[in-house]
Amino acid sequence: MPPAPRVVRTLAGLRRAVEGFQQAQETIALVPTMGALHEGHLSLVRLAHRRARRRIVSIFVNPAQFAPTEDFVSYPRNLKADLLALAGTGADLAWVPSNETMYPPGFALRIVPGGPAAAGLEDKFRPNFFCGVATVVAKLFLQCRPDIAIFGEKDYQQLKVIAALARDLDMPVKVLGAPTAREGDGLAMSSRNAYLSAEERRIAPLLYRTLVGCAERIRRGEALAEAAEEGRAALATAGFAPDYLEARHAGNLQMIESQRDGPIRLLAAARLGTTRLIDNIGV
Ligand code: PAJ
Repeated sequence: MPPAPRVVRTLAGLRRAVEGFQQAQETIALVPTMGALHEGHLSLVRLAHRRARRRIVSIFVNPAQFAPTEDFVSYPRNLKADLLALAGTGADLAWVPSNETMYPPGFALRIVPGGPAAAGLEDKFRPNFFCGVATVVAKLFLQCRPDIAIFGEKDYQQLKVIAALARDLDMPVKVLGAPTAREGDGLAMSSRNAYLSAEERRIAPLLYRTLVGCAERIRRGEALAEAAEEGRAALATAGFAPDYLEARHAGNLQMIESQRDGPIRLLAAARLGTTRLIDNIGV
């Protein structure tokens, strides 16, 4: 049995471990997660293994990034299964703080990111989401003091928000993006896929296929707005309620008019029954 990571639950314990790594001049990679780990998360940890001597995986379902109407209470939590999944990936330490450790009584800080966090994509449908994400990730960076931190392209806007956060706060951490891990039929792996009914699971891969189709049409010269409009219509026909499907500048997520303004990233979010799925691809 490959070794499972050591579980640390207190700030004092984490500080001791991080100082130990630093005194030994070992580089540290951090992979922040909310648990319910799947192959997508594990691919980030494997990348961390290749990039740094020590790997910390944080597991914390962050209440600050859930709206009252969202699934904070029902979000899947299974630490035992997560630790088993991490065994053999090269994770040295699992940082598993409680809500009280992360947000002690009197906690009164909220980071409000702009730029990519105000692009009119996820932020339009989840207004406080990136405040919650930026605040918790800034704390995780200060707690774990990583040299590199790895985030999935699956949450592309989040990746851009975190890169801007580290840059704007002069944090000495290199933020790396990792490719989206997918099921055999193209569906992006997600902890929330567990919510899909059998019928919804059959339809779900059409989100990715629609993005692939849009990208092909754009490459053949179709106008961005037209390709996106067709994509949204295709999603609706398949049974999704699309929140957005848009072609944006891949670097800053700004709106663009034509291929010449690229590089282009296609980003989409759509609801299938009560489950909200997101995905994106490069063009
Ligand atoms: P969570 O949804 O658990 O995702 C943790 C990390 O795994 C994120 O960087 C996410 O982009 C990445 N990830 C998820 N699915 C992936 C897939 N199919 N392929 C590759 N990477 C994937 O994102 C969060 O948690 C939180 O917002 C967090 C950053 C931890 C802050 O609370």
